[in-house]
Amino acid sequence: MKLLDNKWALVTGSSRGIGRQIALGLAQRRCNIVVHGRNESNVAETLQQLQALGARTHVVSGDLGTAEGIEAIIEGVKKGPGHIDILYNNAAIQNDWKPIWDIAPDEWLEIFQVNVFAMVALCNAFAPEMKRRGYGRIINLTSGIRDIPQLAPYSVSKAAVDKYSRDLAAELQGTNVLVNYIDPGWLKTDMGGPDAEQEVETVLPGVLVPALLDDHGPSGRFYAAQDYKDLER
Ligand SMILES: NC(=O)c1ccc[n+]([C@@H]2O[C@H](COP(=O)([O-])OP(=O)(O)OC[C@H]3O[C@@H](n4cnc5c(N)ncnc54)[C@H](OP(=O)(O)O)[C@@H]3O)[C@@H](O)[C@H]2O)c1
Repeated sequence: MKLLDNKWALVTGSSRGIGRQIALGLAQRRCNIVVHGRNESNVAETLQQLQALGARTHVVSGDLGTAEGIEAIIEGVKKGPGHIDILYNNAAIQNDWKPIWDIAPDEWLEIFQVNVFAMVALCNAFAPEMKRRGYGRIINLTSGIRDIPQLAPYSVSKAAVDKYSRDLAAELQGTNVLVNYIDPGWLKTDMGGPDAEQEVETVLPGVLVPALLDDHGPSGRFYAAQDYKDLER
């Protein structure tokens, strides 16, 4: 089994849902985890589960919807491991369901702030140091959502995630900082809702694939976590 000894992964939104599964899966590969939620109390359960696996952890908190929150996360990493080897941009929000015509500019902006601009800010904060160190894995959560105009801000923000991931991959070509994006599938989480097709645990082991890539492996590529759900974990 390929292991991630001595690597530090920041998993945004690892307080619950898919992010928690990503954190647990990485910890099972002996990766150290920077756990993140909007506040420290939100991450308590994830932290307990990680510690039960014997993982080394560090907690950061901050609202990705504000510049102060993003800065708190970056500063929190500096006070802990100091650098990040694997940046898993998982946290995101969905807009309220309403006719596409009725979605106000502020709602579009709020979704883009968390789902796109915060992701860009974290990449800007950590990718240059990854480049200097000659190792990095950046994985951005996208979505297979389509033809649901009532959720257009969310859907369009994920299209931006895809395009940005490919642009960043091109910028980092040849550096061994690999940038990829992954669709987890439709999952029973707070966001996915109870009618979703899959249990949240089915994102494993697929979500680990872009984190475990060999040096100078694929970059700028799309992955689908559900393609791997029948593999041994
Ligand atoms: N579930 C699905 O079916 C599905 C399908 C396709 C793609 N995805 C993508 O998968 C990722 C995870 O989704 P999920 O279903 O696990 O979502 P979720 O259950 O709603 O969890 C969201 C996570 O993001 C964090 N978060 C939310 N708003 C934040 C903010 N303003 N600042 C900082 N952190 C914030 C939450 O932290 P707190 O606990 O502190 O609030 C939580 O850890 C997202 O990128 C989503 O778009 C999900």
